Amino acid sequence: DRLLLMNGPNINMLGKREKEFYGEFTLADIEQDITSLAKNHGFELDTFQSNHEGELVDRLQQADGQYVGVVFNPAAYTHTSIALRDAIAAIDTPVIEVHISNVHQRENFRHHSMLAPVCYGQIVGLGRVGYRMAALAFMENN
Ligand code: DQA
Repeated sequence: DRLLLMNGPNINMLGKREKEFYGEFTLADIEQDITSLAKNHGFELDTFQSNHEGELVDRLQQADGQYVGVVFNPAAYTHTSIALRDAIAAIDTPVIEVHISNVHQRENFRHHSMLAPVCYGQIVGLGRVGYRMAALAFMENN
């Protein structure tokens, strides 16, 4: 069984960007973390990060039927992307939306998710642990 970990724009800047919201850890730290968590549960993990909306749409389409679930931090596209929402709605593979920061404590424009209504679940504000919780939710249900 396989899981897909996807991250959207500027998540490749973790460790440098706005540490007060996102902490000191890097994308590589998260990917290593979830790879070993998956392995311990007998799952394989694929990872993908892109700063480009269309590439994220393409990867979701390719993921259809290939994974037990997709752990996805869509970053800023959360708040804007009808294309990502339609891609998630189009595929049978369930998606959990993850945010490192508590978006509800931040600017109003971060309070609304275009994607949450078509996602299986959502995790916000738990830092890097949020990715672990999402991966566990898929692995323990499969
Ligand atoms: C984020 C929250 C978004 O509002 C923001 O645009 C990000 C990261 C988070 O993980 O907290 O880039 O998705």
